[in-house]
This record gives sequence, C-alpha cells and structure tokens, in this order.
Amino acid sequence: MISLSNVGKEYRKGQWALRDVTFTIQKGEFVILSGTSGAGKTTLMRLVSLEERPTEGQLTLEGFASNQIKKRQLPYFRRRIGLVFQDFRLLRDRSAYENIALVLRATGAKQGSLHRRVIRALAAVGLSGRGDAMPHELSGGEQQRIGIARAIVGDPFIVLADEPTGNLDDANKREVFQMLKKISSAGTAVLIATHDLTIAREMRARTLILDKGRLVRDALQPAQAAPAGGPVPIRPIAAGGLRA
Ligand SMILES: Nc1ncnc2c1ncn2[C@@H]1O[C@H](COP(=O)(O)OP(=O)(O)OP(=O)(O)O)[C@@H](O)[C@H]1O
Ligand SMILES: [Mg+2]
Repeated sequence: MISLSNVGKEYRKGQWALRDVTFTIQKGEFVILSGTSGAGKTTLMRLVSLEERPTEGQLTLEGFASNQIKKRQLPYFRRRIGLVFQDFRLLRDRSAYENIALVLRATGAKQGSLHRRVIRALAAVGLSGRGDAMPHELSGGEQQRIGIARAIVGDPFIVLADEPTGNLDDANKREVFQMLKKISSAGTAVLIATHDLTIAREMRARTLILDKGRLVRDALQPAQAAPAGGPVPIRPIAAGGLRA
C-alpha cells in the first residue's frame, strides 16, 4: 500500500508544487492522475518513486515512512517500483528481451529464473516471440509494451507511468491503458498520469485530479454520459481508497 498524508512539496521558497495531498493506493488498484499542465502530476510521481522527498507531510510505501528510509535502502525500494516513460527509454542497441532482462541482471538474478521471468513478462504484454526484435523493428505501441514488461519483470508493488501514451496514436493509447489495467488486476497497483480524461472515463478508473498542487477530486468516473433523468452520481472515495 502507498499512503500520502498531507504531503506538500516546495521546490522554491513560497512555491508549492503540491500542497496537503492525502490519499492511499491499495494493492492491485488502477488509478489515473490528471490535471492541467503544471498541476503537480510529475512531482507526485517523483515523490512516490523516492526521487524527491516531501517538504511536509508523510509518504509511506509498504509500511515504510519515506523520511525514515536510509540512502543505502533506496535501491531496495526503487526495485519495488516499476517505471514506464512517455519516450519508452529502451536501449536502442539491445533486443526487447535484453531490455527487459537488464533489470534483473542488475539485481544478480540467476540465469534460469531470469529467463522464465522475462518470458513471462513478454507474455503479459502480448509480445511472446518478439524478444529478439530490436526496438527500431517494433511499432511505438509495441515499444511501450516492452517498456511495461520491463516495469513489471521485477514484480514491483506499483507501476508508475507518467504520460505513457503521450507519443502514441489513439488505437495504441487504448491498448496501453488496457494492458496496464490487466496488470493491475493481476495484483500490481498502477498509477498513470495523463491529460487524457476521455480514456479514463471509458475505463471507469478511479481518478485523482490535481489543480495547482491540490487534490481536488478523488472519484470513480461515470462510464458514460448521464442517462435521461439526471446525472450519474460520482461516488467520492472513502478514506483508505477504493478497490478496482
Ligand atoms: N525541479 C523543479 N524545480 C522547481 N520547480 C519545479 C520543478 N519541477 C517542477 N516544478 C514546478 O512545480 C509545478 C508542478 O510541476 P509538475 O511537473 O509536477 O507538473 P505536471 O502536472 O507534471 O505538468 P505537465 O502536465 O506539464 O507534465 C510547476 O509549477 C513546475 O514549474
Ligand atoms: Mg508532468
């Protein structure tokens, strides 16, 4: 579980990128984070991935308070978080398989289990059999799916994706969102920062909205437009979060 309690981030004196943000994300939850440019989405991601520390408030990851995590423990916590990037960030001169395997090589995984896990991650993103392909031989959507496989191969408790579909067309966008949703149903929490609220609505995802650094909404989006007879009520999320 991830929990933020009155978290604030002040980059420069008097300039708060985030202020008083409180929410939790449970195991296997699928959550979308939205808001206009500059609202604080990336800042929030950087706090959860421990690249930045909150200026105030408390953030806990799997029961550990971020301000108590020692520098030497950071690699352990970072391995518990999978990152997906807008520009994929695949190594151009390595195969899809190697791009995924590198994560595990860095942790000293044994060859047999490494192979099994890479094969499983490729299957999870629907790209079994494409392990030998080089990034330039894959479409943008496929490259991002390799990026997702790389994020999940270490079995993290959460995948953080900051604008993962920013470089993709509509069809690939939907595919990537659906893939991330499937991953969350298998037990890994997923947090996606995106401007694209249309897809969030289509997916009936729990959606957090930031406005000038404040969390102004935490709700399940209605699946479709309001039926005749009145708008679909938007259920606020109870403290402790909502299971997908
Ligand atoms: N390293 C930094 N130093 C100083 N200010 C920063 C830093 N990073 C972000 N900010 C400021 O914090 C605020 C939030 O920025 P952030 O990047 O989190 O927004 P965002 O919601 O991700 O925007 P976008 O949709 O454009 O990606 C902005 O006012 C930004 O200028
Ligand atoms: Mg951003």
